[in-house]
Parts: sequence; C-alpha cells; structure tokens
Amino acid sequence: MITEIVERVVRSSRYRDVDRSLLSRLAAEELPRARNPEDAVKRVKRRLHQVVGAFRGAPQRNAIEEAWNGDLTGSAFRAACIDALRGHASTRERIPHLESFYAGIWARTGVPARICDVGCGLNPLALPWMGIGDATYLATDVDQRPLQAVSAFFDLVGQLNEVRTADVVAEPPSDEADVALLLKLVTTLDRQDPEAATRILQTIRARHAVVSFATRSMGGRGDGRDRIYRSRMERLVAEARHVSAVAEASVPSELVFVLTLDG
Ligand SMILES: C[S@@+](CC[C@H](N)C(=O)[O-])C[C@H]1O[C@@H](n2cnc3c(N)ncnc32)[C@H](O)[C@@H]1O
Repeated sequence: MITEIVERVVRSSRYRDVDRSLLSRLAAEELPRARNPEDAVKRVKRRLHQVVGAFRGAPQRNAIEEAWNGDLTGSAFRAACIDALRGHASTRERIPHLESFYAGIWARTGVPARICDVGCGLNPLALPWMGIGDATYLATDVDQRPLQAVSAFFDLVGQLNEVRTADVVAEPPSDEADVALLLKLVTTLDRQDPEAATRILQTIRARHAVVSFATRSMGGRGDGRDRIYRSRMERLVAEARHVSAVAEASVPSELVFVLTLDG
C-alpha cells in the first residue's frame, strides 16, 4: 500500500523530484491516520508542501551560464545568481544581507576548507558572496530540483563539490566538515520529527554548526517569533550535549547561531 501511495504522489509533476525514501516515510506515517487511499495521498501531499513545496521555484540556469566569464565576483554573474536565489523563499529573504551574512559566520568559525550544507535548497548559489576560495562544498537536500541547479552551478564555476540527495530525518549525515550549515532547517525538520535536528548535531563530524531561523514570515511580516526560536535553540543545544560554545551572527531577516562542537 505504501508503494501505491508513493506512485500516486509522484504522478504529480510537483513532487516527482523528491527523494523516494522521504515519500515512503511520509506515506507510512499518514496511512494509519487516513480514511482511505485517496485521503492518504492528500495527506502526504499536504506534508510535502510543508517539507519542500512551500519554498521551491525554478532557477534560471541558462542566465547563470550565459553570465559566467570565469570570475565569481563579476557583476553580471552576481546579478544572475541573485535572480536564481529569488527562486527559493529562503534564499530570497537573505539577498539584502548577502554581503555580511557569510563574513559574519566565518568571523566566528574561520573560513572553512570543507562545508557541509544540510537541506541546502539553493543556498550554494550564494557562493560568490561566501569568499571560501577552493573549499570543498558538500550539498545535500531531500529535493532533487534545487540539487540539479546546484550541481550544474558547481560544475560551471569549477568548485570542488559533492551533491547528494538525502532524507536527513531518516539518515542524519556523518560527514566531516569544518562548518555544517543547517540554515532555516530546524523548523522544517521539527514538523517531521522533533528529534531530527538533535540527531544531526550528534552525528555530523563538524567543528562548527550554524543553525538559523527565519524571523519573518514568508509573507514578509515580522511576527515576533524571535523569542520562540531562541528558546528552541537553547533546547537544541542542551539536547545535543556536545556544544561547547554558542555565538550569534544574526542579520535582520534571520537569527543565526554559530555552535562550536566538541570532537
Ligand atoms: C526552509 S528551506 C532552507 C533552505 C536553505 N538551507 C536556506 O536556508 O537557504 C528547507 C530545506 O530543507 C529541505 N528539507 C526538508 N526536509 C528535509 C529532509 N528530511 N532531509 C533533507 N532536506 C530536507 C527542503 O527541501 C528545503 O530545501
């Protein structure tokens, strides 16, 4: 029955690119609550909208390729990247702060030689503002749609990379990295499994983990979530157990916490 539900969900072009293991997990969770198979399909689609659907869009890959002249900092190339970053709600909100966002994080972690971006969406397309030179960039997401754009982007600019589809709720990453980015990920994971974010901090072999929260709703209104997210962060740090320091590198649209993890 789970396979049948998954097959019906992927008939929708909207969710064809989503990792099958996530679809199976959501189908297994929703089947016992559903009245019948139709209801199960609807429930899985509703969950998928929360997990991936609410954020995604299609980046203009050709525009990026046409603007590439071998220089990450070229103004036409940056403009094309900005257009692409608009294609995903999470990166769109970050655009006004790109100049200071990564510099503020690296000021606390050092410039990383290896980054692991968990639930990356289109964030790797902000590479021109990261100033990480020839660092290796590991990008993972449960949604292949942004990953296709990310992989083509890395190939275009010649950045060392590994791009991987993964459901990090079922398989928390155990990669080695100087910095693991969990940008705007915790609230999405909490809706799937409230312990998933803790598991990631416990399995990832990174010196630092950067955990952030969007402080504005997708409609653009500030809605006072700051206090709720700070207390969520405190709980995460307590549960992860091996966090030795917490610093803050927030920008106006995003609360950003930089954790130092014990080895
Ligand atoms: C709010 S967006 C944040 C994207 C990016 N980190 C950023 O801040 O620009 C959440 C991302 O997490 C991904 N995601 C959600 N659930 C996931 C899971 N179980 N495993 C891996 N990625 C997941 C979504 O596909 C989406 O790209």
